[in-house]
Amino acid sequence: MDLSTVFRLDGKVAVVTGAGSGIGRAGAEVLAAAGARVVVADLDLAGAEETVAGIKEADGEAVARQVDVADPHAVTALVDETVSGLGQLDVLVNNAGIMIRRPLTEVPPEEFDRVLAVNLKSVLYGCQAVARVMRPGSAIVNTLSTIIDFATAGTGSYAATKKGGEALTRTFALELGPRGIRVNGVAPGWTDTGITRQRHVDDSGRFQQDRFDELASRMASSSPLGTVAESLDSAYAVLYLASEASRFVTGHVIRVNGGASMA
Ligand SMILES: NC(=O)c1ccc[n+]([C@@H]2O[C@H](COP(=O)([O-])OP(=O)(O)OC[C@H]3O[C@@H](n4cnc5c(N)ncnc54)[C@H](O)[C@@H]3O)[C@@H](O)[C@H]2O)c1
Repeated sequence: MDLSTVFRLDGKVAVVTGAGSGIGRAGAEVLAAAGARVVVADLDLAGAEETVAGIKEADGEAVARQVDVADPHAVTALVDETVSGLGQLDVLVNNAGIMIRRPLTEVPPEEFDRVLAVNLKSVLYGCQAVARVMRPGSAIVNTLSTIIDFATAGTGSYAATKKGGEALTRTFALELGPRGIRVNGVAPGWTDTGITRQRHVDDSGRFQQDRFDELASRMASSSPLGTVAESLDSAYAVLYLASEASRFVTGHVIRVNGGASMA
């Protein structure tokens, strides 16, 4: 048995959304290192181009594309351009996401709509778009969150999108399974990225390192392993779910949270 080939993605094409930073960037880098040609898609084109530059420096293949995942036409166009330009699409990672903290009693309708559109509707649009073009053996991975296992005050709209994403993951797994397409989720624990840092920027735009470190150490204590995640930890789970190694795994969510929840 040659285990070195099981995790390889040579000849495959992957699209990773929200790959201009954080967990998506790490996912794009790992998939490229495994041999995939990667479409690095993000609203932030400069961030996507930075990711591509890093992948190319490591001798990988990648292109940057600007997309707003909340726009179904833009998502369909991204998928169609990928297939016409690179010939196929084997892996989709629906990863782009935003977090807005506000008590549910105060969430205005337009804010709720935006979080739903970016975090949840995007998963629907992405899965629908690739379902038209994916061949048997393809894989979809949706980035969820450990928040699917907890309720915390101030994060209700975000939690609703991630719990909804879990439901979409399982239902798409049922609907696309007969066509040989697997659909799974990765639920990261607290990770040092743009989303977690943005909360600690004060009114003058200054990053509050002390408060950030304090929160990171509180989050670390929720794991039996006593540390917080790195983006790479979720990226490794994405690689597993994208590769042949997980060929009989579908409708599943891998919690990359150091055992902070064990559902
Ligand atoms: N960091 C954590 O602690 C954590 C924990 C659990 C889940 N997650 C999830 O991981 C995913 C990645 O987040 P991250 O932590 O790497 O944060 P991040 O802010 O570093 O990355 C998010 C990326 O998504 C992009 N993006 C935002 N809106 C977009 C849109 N409409 N269209 C396209 N791209 C868009 C951003 O430009 C950014 O590059 C998100 O789905 C997030 O909910 C993060």
